[in-house]
Formats: sequence, structure tokens, C-alpha cells
Amino acid sequence: MSQTEEKLENNADKILAEAVRKSEMIEKDIAVNPKKYRVLTGDRPTGNLHIGHYFGSLKNRVRLSRLGVPTMILIADYQVLTDHDAFDKISQNTKQLVIDYLAAGIEPGKDVCIYPHSHVPEANQLMVPFLTLVSSSELDRNPTVKDEIEKSGMKSVNAGMLTYPVHQAVDILFCKGNVVPVGKDQLPHLEVARLIARRFNNKFCPENPIFPEPYALLSKTPMIKGLDGSAKMSKSLGNTIMLCASEDETAKLIKKAKTDQERHISYDPVNRPEVANLLQIISLCTGEEPEAIAERIGDGGGGMLKSVLTEALNEELRPLRTKRAELENNMDYIRSVLKEGVVQAREIAVKTLEEVRSVMNMEI
Ligand code: TRP
Repeated sequence: MSQTEEKLENNADKILAEAVRKSEMIEKDIAVNPKKYRVLTGDRPTGNLHIGHYFGSLKNRVRLSRLGVPTMILIADYQVLTDHDAFDKISQNTKQLVIDYLAAGIEPGKDVCIYPHSHVPEANQLMVPFLTLVSSSELDRNPTVKDEIEKSGMKSVNAGMLTYPVHQAVDILFCKGNVVPVGKDQLPHLEVARLIARRFNNKFCPENPIFPEPYALLSKTPMIKGLDGSAKMSKSLGNTIMLCASEDETAKLIKKAKTDQERHISYDPVNRPEVANLLQIISLCTGEEPEAIAERIGDGGGGMLKSVLTEALNEELRPLRTKRAELENNMDYIRSVLKEGVVQAREIAVKTLEEVRSVMNMEI
């Protein structure tokens, strides 16, 4: 490892430690003072959501919105262009995301909205000044972007790919979002948003800062692995259970899930990661500790483990799936949710853009 690489790694450790500390503080305060915060989160419209999204982020969003925290959920239909060539399904995928959100319990209303970020022109206008506040070498160093470039096997890197963290800062800052529930992979992006907020305030409005520095809210749920045992549940790896799957499909997928040779079921994440993962998912459904579930199954073996999991997961998802099926038949409603979300987001964006123009001396 070179000295610069080592320095960057130490820096990343520091950022993570600070993010964990701050996230824990917010977690305690947010239940008491929900209106002090604005949650901003989003997904790229790449298709339906799976149980990894559900346990990792969706349930948490529902919880936060039910605490009364103003919540903006954006569908990143511009960002998705950076790594997906196919755009023919963007509109369809956007609506499917809305269906998954609503079915999981997100209730759009005065304090909760869902919108595609391409439909908020006044927010997108912040991109130009924001781009002037970061250097190209800062963008080049972003480890999450580097990783995505490597994984995608792109021959040439489009400029949207390098600059999307700045656009993500627009997503967060236009509405003065101060809490962003994310996984660790998104921390570098959050650092960009914090940096831009700081630099903008210092440069244009040191007396009356416009943008709050946003903080990550890190998920406490352990990351669910794929059913094939690979590190991540991901649609492109074909190792997921989609929220929209039927109970039979769920059972079939679980039957094929990877386990190991040992018959007796025990909870041992280090030596038996696949079995531990399945126990973990049961635990997320029932609230029982994975050790206790393992003990109960014991000599019942992999067969019993899988049937317990099938039952627990299908039961957990039953209300969501029923609601999902109803929503599928009501696309007019889904469209109206998005349209209303766009109105709410634009109202906020117009105000922020006015403030921004005023401090940048661009009023006419
Ligand atoms: N980068 C996020 C992802 O790939 C999606 C996203 C876009 C997002 N804008 C955001 C997440 C703003 C949080 C806040 O999943």
C-alpha cells in the first residue's frame, strides 16, 4: 500500500467512526424531536425491490416516517443513467418502486413524499454552482464510484458517473435534508454533500448559512447475503427473493438456497455463513434470536430450516403482498402519488433556489 493510499484509508476509518457516533446520537434524538429532522433517501429505478432492501432500508424508512419525521423519498431516474444503458424501463421501474414503498407502509401525505428527481428542475439547477465547489481530483478519488466503474466493466467512463455524487448532494441539500439513512457504501457520497454544504456556506453566505450539513443514519440490521451464499443479495446475481414473488415462488427459491453438509443446525456466522444467513432472515421476521431458532431446529436439519424460513418470510410479507397486488391494479393512484410528490418537492426547491440566487448575487 502506498503512503497516499494508507492516508486515504485512515481517513475513511475516521469518517466511519465519526459517522457511527453521530448516527447513534441522531437515533436517540429523532424519536423525541422528529420535526428537527428531514430524512432524504432514494433508490435508483433498476427494478423491483427484494427482501435485502426490505429488511435493510425499507422497514427503517417506514419506522422513521411513522415517528413523524418529514421524509422525502426520491427515485434517482437521472442517476440510474450513469451505469445503466437501458432506459426503456425507467418509467415502469419508477412505478414499481412506488408500489413497493406504499405496500411496505410508506404513507404519502403532508410530511412524506415520493418523486423522481428528474422532475424537479429547480433542484437540478443547483448542479452547476455545486460543480464549481469540488475539484476533479476529489471526484476521481471517490471509492464507491471507483468500485462501480470497476464492476460495470465500462470501457470509457462517462462524466455523469464521475459527477453523480455532486448530483446526489443536490438531492440531499435542495430540501435541506439533514438525515440520510444509508449503508456504508454511501458514506463517501455523504462526505461530498457535507463538503459542498460547507464550502457553499463559507463562500456565499458565511453569516447566514443556507445548507445544513447532512448526516448518515447507519442501518443496524446486518446485511443479508444472497441465497447462493455470496456477500450481497442483488438482482443481477439472481440470488434474491423479490417482494413481489408469490408464496410458491418464495418456497421454491428457499428450497434451492445454499446450505452445508452438516445436518445439525447451529448459528455460526464465521464457519457456517449460509446457514447463519438463513437463520438471520428468520430472526428478522420473527424477532427471535438466531441462536434460539437454531437450537429449536437442531437435528431437523436443512430441510426444516428451509421450511421454517419459508413460513416465517411468507407470513411477514403477506400483508405487503396483498397490498401490492391491489396497488398494481391502481396505476392512476400510483401516478397521482408521484405527481403530488413532484409538486411538494418543487415547492421546496423553488424556495431554496431563490435563497441560493440571492446569496450568489444573481437576482435580476
Ligand atoms: N446512490 C443511491 C443508490 O445507488 C441512490 C440515491 C440517489 C440516493 N440520490 C440519493 C440515496 C440521495 C440517498 C440520498 O442507492
